[in-house]
Amino acid sequence: MLDIKNVKKTFNINTINEKKALNGINLHLNEGDFVTVIGGNGAGKSTTLNMIAGVYPIDSGKIEIDGVNISRFPEYKRAKYIGRVFQDPMMGTAAGMEIQENMALAYRRGKERGLAWGIKQNEKSFYQEALKKLGLGLENRMTNKVGLLSGGQRQALTLLMATLQKPQILLLDEHTAALDPKTAKKVLEITEEIVDEQNLTTLMITHNMKDAIQIGNRLIMMHEGRIIFDISGEEKKNLEVEDLLRKFEEASGEEFSNDRMILAN
Ligand SMILES: Nc1ncnc2c1ncn2[C@@H]1O[C@H](COP(=O)(O)OP(=O)(O)OP(=O)(O)O)[C@@H](O)[C@H]1O
Ligand SMILES: [Mg+2]
Repeated sequence: MLDIKNVKKTFNINTINEKKALNGINLHLNEGDFVTVIGGNGAGKSTTLNMIAGVYPIDSGKIEIDGVNISRFPEYKRAKYIGRVFQDPMMGTAAGMEIQENMALAYRRGKERGLAWGIKQNEKSFYQEALKKLGLGLENRMTNKVGLLSGGQRQALTLLMATLQKPQILLLDEHTAALDPKTAKKVLEITEEIVDEQNLTTLMITHNMKDAIQIGNRLIMMHEGRIIFDISGEEKKNLEVEDLLRKFEEASGEEFSNDRMILAN
């Protein structure tokens, strides 16, 4: 499914701001793997997802999706393989457009046709059914502008849009971090439902250790541009937050620190 081989990335090479962000990442995901990703600030988590999505070119190594080497594909060419939701609820949707228009744009991703031809009735029904599953009442607000929605509603919509056409891989970068705890929980539940239903291969960065343990079938920990820990199945389920912190300290020789990490909730 996803194969990352020895991917390296240094930002601002040969300048005073040179920063090695990825130090040789190796990761193989099987179809349907739901992987949570944790690590301290600057560990390279977001950079890893950005490399997969093609936000920046990699310096060396290889990224394959389903056997296709996408390492040199521009970002727009990867969009048809990849669904993404990032931290900022303002980013994944167009505020000035209607809910149904946003969905139609997402649905047409990678296709020739834009919105000029309008949205057909059968399409509207399809969007309505999809929105119903979120359980947020958005199916009755399809002509509302997205700017009227709350942050949580927008993230849920972004998630739905990212998965409207089944992506080969779903990338989530702290997509609930900007939400209040109750809304974050709801959006995480929706995430699990969508991933389960479509058996999506997913990478989800989170700063919440408990979520990282509870959600998905596999957990990886990053430090200084490397994966230092990769655990799955029963072993993952039986982890405690303290185990993770200890493992981090053993592997890195440092204390775990992430300014967005919340142990309690
Ligand atoms: N566009 C960029 N230009 C220069 N440096 C960058 C860029 N993006 C990331 N970096 C640097 O690369 C390193 C890895 O950053 P990254 O954003 O991947 O960390 P992270 O694990 O997502 O951390 P956080 O938990 O804080 O989000 C950091 O030192 C960061 O400053
Ligand atoms: Mg990050």
